[in-house]
Order: sequence, then structure tokens, then C-alpha cells
Amino acid sequence: MTLKRFLLVSTLSLLCSSLLNAGEVYLSELDMANCQQGWGQPGINVSVDGNKLTIGGEQYDKGLGTHSDSAILLQLDGKVKSFTAMVGVDSETGARGSVRFVIYGDNKKLYSSELLKGGQPATQVAVDLSGVRELMLLTTAGDNGIDYDHANWAQAKFVYDGAAPKTASQPVEEKYILTPPAPAEPRINSASIFGVRPGSPVLYTIAATGERPMTFSAKGLPKGVTVDEKTGQITGQTVRGSYKVTLIAKNKLGKATKELTLEVGDKIALTPPMGWNSWNCWGCAIDEAKIRDSAQWLVKSGLINHGWQYINIDDCWMKKLDTDDEVLGGTRRDEQGYILTNKNFPDMRKLTDYIHGLGLKTGIYISPGPSTCAGFEGSYKYEKQDAEIFAAWGFDYLKYDWCGYGSIVRNPDLVALKLPYIHMAHYLAQQPRDIVYSLCQYGMGEVWQWGGEVGGNCWRTTGDIVDTWGSMAGIGFDQAKCTPFARPGNWNDPDMLVVGKVGWGPNLHDSRLTPSEQYTHISLWSLLASPLLIGCDLSQLDEFTLNLLTNDEVIAVNQDSLGVQAGRKIQTEEGEVWVKPLADGSYAVGLFNRGYIASEIEADFAALGLKPGKYQVRDLWRQQELGNFKGSFKSQVPRHGVVLVKVTRK
Ligand code: GAL
Repeated sequence: MTLKRFLLVSTLSLLCSSLLNAGEVYLSELDMANCQQGWGQPGINVSVDGNKLTIGGEQYDKGLGTHSDSAILLQLDGKVKSFTAMVGVDSETGARGSVRFVIYGDNKKLYSSELLKGGQPATQVAVDLSGVRELMLLTTAGDNGIDYDHANWAQAKFVYDGAAPKTASQPVEEKYILTPPAPAEPRINSASIFGVRPGSPVLYTIAATGERPMTFSAKGLPKGVTVDEKTGQITGQTVRGSYKVTLIAKNKLGKATKELTLEVGDKIALTPPMGWNSWNCWGCAIDEAKIRDSAQWLVKSGLINHGWQYINIDDCWMKKLDTDDEVLGGTRRDEQGYILTNKNFPDMRKLTDYIHGLGLKTGIYISPGPSTCAGFEGSYKYEKQDAEIFAAWGFDYLKYDWCGYGSIVRNPDLVALKLPYIHMAHYLAQQPRDIVYSLCQYGMGEVWQWGGEVGGNCWRTTGDIVDTWGSMAGIGFDQAKCTPFARPGNWNDPDMLVVGKVGWGPNLHDSRLTPSEQYTHISLWSLLASPLLIGCDLSQLDEFTLNLLTNDEVIAVNQDSLGVQAGRKIQTEEGEVWVKPLADGSYAVGLFNRGYIASEIEADFAALGLKPGKYQVRDLWRQQELGNFKGSFKSQVPRHGVVLVKVTRK
């Protein structure tokens, strides 16, 4: 064969093969910068933990190691022929984790796996993609949250005729505001029940919206307790008893009243604590000025008028284990063992006085271990001094974070898990002020079963939240297991809010949750009667975030005096319906869409446990009556969104 002929033949055969034999590309060869997942980063040809991809003991060379809930979006030219993969949970989790693999093409579901559990063999996926232009590869958590959901798309490959598929960025959803502004007439929004111990200082600020100036009064306050006419701050101290108080707020347009039960007894935190915490915002990049400003912004933004009241300092206010000692040449405690602050917090008492002066409360953080998570001085062996100084400084809330205690007991049994918490509870109880006690140990030993017994007012039920759908939804929808254990004074805590500008350090970014996901976040946390701690920069609240945090009907669900946590009553592949009984005999009902496309979710009244009959349904985000319904209520719900309603028997 001549050279010319050889070239002609090989060009022709190349051309034919590209026409007849399509191209192939592995999923793991595509750009994964836009892949969203509940934890970690996607592993390219390795698991999310960086190990060789392994499903049911079988190893794979190629593939993507994700973590639920994950979403990969792809753009196709309509000429991609097929997608094939072996899917399952990576063997590195042992037998833990459960994941569903779901594929959508042009908003139609093309494939959904069984719920695949850790240890099970891989499932084969083969999907025809002819004509498809938009593809979504999803993994969703099973029935036990996202923990250990190491979800592998092994040997995942596209065969195509035209162009190779390309990954795309996540869909952008415009911010939408649902809640009308509060009326100019006075409206009292603070909780209808408040607990304080006999002799402890009372601080209850009447939260009220409406035009200023406004004057406040209260009837039926016990001896020793008074209300400030201008600020609405109720202060003083008194003796044991249950007092029925009428709160009154007046402005030039009218007058509002609200009944408050003041329970002077052994229980505090009778409704879930509401406020702000520094961690999700600035992490360790905090100082006194930032805390003071945050308190000011809680007032200036008007959040205080909706019941937001705690300003909580998280980790990093104390001295660091080595550096501060080296730099300052000093110690981390004084001669009596009282803890010293670092240079960013020159005067704690002055700071708490300032915060209290605004009608707010304030919290602090430490670990039972020798060090905190971020390596600062912990309480170990100084629990008594720490409880004393926190009270002397004037704190109202303590987050007690296990972290460094891991160096004291490595594999704690139940007794060891409880011990440090009982220890601190003992000293807190001796202080002359009420300190809400927040346990933070990420849910170990099913803390929801015994957090109250060791003195906790609330306890974290999970690891740390981040501002992704996978993390927020994975945590939030996993709380059904804790439902029976919440009650006034004892709350499950699925971690702080991730709306607004967050960052865990000096640089902040807008929450990566879409607007609908943020409505889901606030609705779910309200239904769960969870502590509500905003984790963003309050000086940078935009209109959307402020609106999201100031819907009084939604907040009232969280603060309801019955103190029952919502339970999940209906669960389909994409939809969930959660129900929270309320003190007035009605129910708050959340219709959630966990799926990636808008769909109709139905709340069947019998399945919710409601008696037969007619029910009035009110949309809580829009604050609008939707009419009377018999048998069921259904609604179109946006992707990852919610419709939150109040259902009242007629
Ligand atoms: C974690 C805790 C976070 C934050 C952090 C501070 O253990 O879960 O919420 O407090 O420590 O270092």
C-alpha cells in the first residue's frame, strides 16, 4: 500500500468509527467543581474518604466517590446514548449508611435504585439517554440521615455520538419573599410561657412589632418583678409560683394584649432558646466588638421584636493552649483557677452588662475536656470555677462541647458519656442565676434519650451543619428518632441555622442553600421545636433573610407552649409530611418536597392522625387562609421546598 492510500484508508476508517462507534467518557473524567454533596469532596476514582472504590467487597478502578445528599448536573446535546454504572455504598463504612441513587433526564425520573445499604453488593445501572439534554445524577439519604452515606458511582460511563456530556452549575433560584410586613398596630410576639428559678434574676423582654413609640405594661406580675414601660423589659426576682400575667403593648394606633404564664419553679427554657451564635458566622475570628455589634444589630434589625434574644459567644474567647502562653508568657487561669480570657475579650462583665442593657441575654462556650475543639483552654478539673465565673460574668447560656474530652476517655460507654455533663450541671445548679445548659456531643450514645436526665436543656443530636442541601436536609429530616424526647425545658438540637452570610471564619459568603431550601430549613427547625440560633452576620442581613427570620406565625410554631416536637407522618420517595400538635388544639403541618423537581405533596388527614372532619387550613409563610378541607390537603411544592400550614378543626 502506498503512503497516500494508507492515509486515505486510515482517515476513512477513523471517520467511520467515530460515526458508528460512539465516544466514551467516564463520569470521573468530567469537571466536578459544581458537584454538591452533604459532606466532604467528591473522590475522583476513589471513595469520599480517599480509598479505592469498593462496593460489597468488589473493587473498581474508575468512578466517583460522593456522599449523600449529592447532586451532579450535566448538559447533554441530545446525542448521548447511555449512562452505565455500578452503584452502592462504599465498603469503608462497614455495614453502615443507606443511599438511594436517582437519575432525572429533562425533569423526568429515568432511574431510582432500591435503598442500598452499606455492605450490600453493587447494583447495575443502565439508562438510555437518547434525546436527553439535562441530566441529574443524585444520591439521597435513606432512613437514617446522611451519616456514613458514602455513595459510589463506580465505573460510571457515558457513551455518546455527538459531544461529550458537560457538568453544569446548580440551578439558580431567585429569592422570593412570602411574608407580609408586620402591621403598624401593636402585636406581641414573645412566647406565652417563661420559666425562671425562685430567686434567679428574671429577664423577659416583651417582643412586640408595631409603630414606635410603644408603651408596655403588665398585670398580675408577682411581687419583686416589674416591667419597664419604655423597653418592655420585665426584670426582678421572686418566689416559687405559677403566675398568670397579662402583657399589654400600646401605640397610637391601638393596643395588644397577650397572656403570659410566668412559671417560677425548677424548669427553665420552657420554649426553645432563640438567638444568635458566633460560630457559623466567624468561627474563631471573633472579638468583643463583633459580639457587641451583633447584639446591637439584633435590636436595630428589629429581630428582637420577634423574640430573638440570645447573643452567644462560641469557641475561641479563652487562651489558646500553647500559643497564648508562649506569646503572653502567662497562664490560662489565675491562682484560684479562674479562667482568663484572651486579648480579644478584655472585659466579659462589661460585655454582658451591655448585652443585658439591650434587653437581650447572652451565652458562652467551653469544653469539658482540657481543650476546646479549636485548641483553647477547656474546663477539665476546673468545672466549679468555670460555672462560678460564667455566672459572675453574667452569662445566661452555656454550650458545653465534648471535643477535648475525647482525650480523657477514648471509647466512652454510656456512663462515661454522661459523667462530664452531670458534673457541670451540678455546679451550674449552685449558681445564683439561670444558665440554659446546652450539651454538644453530636448525638453520641443517643443523647436525646438521657440529655434531660443529666440536666441538659438542649442537646445537639448531630455533627456540625454546613450550608448545603445535603447537610441541612440530611440532618433535619433525620430528627424523627428524637421526636418523643423533646418537651418544655428539654429540646433536641439539630444545630444552628445556616441562612444569611456565613463563613466559619473571617471571610463570609451567602448561604449556599437556595431560597426554597432556606424556607425548608426554618420551617423544619420550627416544627422540630429546635433551638433557633442564627449563624450569620447580622450587620449584613438582606431583605430576604430578614423576612425569613421574622414571620411571627412560623416562629410561634417553634415557641408553642405545648412543647411537642413534630413527627414524620408521611414519607414517600420525595415527599415528607411532618406534624406538630399545638397548644390551641390545632396542628402545624409541613409538606416537604425533597425531590429535585416541583411536585404535588398530599397530607392525608387520617395519615396525620387527625380526627375525621373539616379543617381550616392557613398558609403560615404567606399568612393567608387557604379555605376548609376534608380528608386531605395537597399542594404543589417547589424543588427542595415546603408548604407550611396550620390546620384547625372546624
Ligand atoms: C464543634 C461544635 C461547633 C462549634 C465548634 C467550635 O464541636 O459542634 O458547633 O462549637 O466545635 O470549635
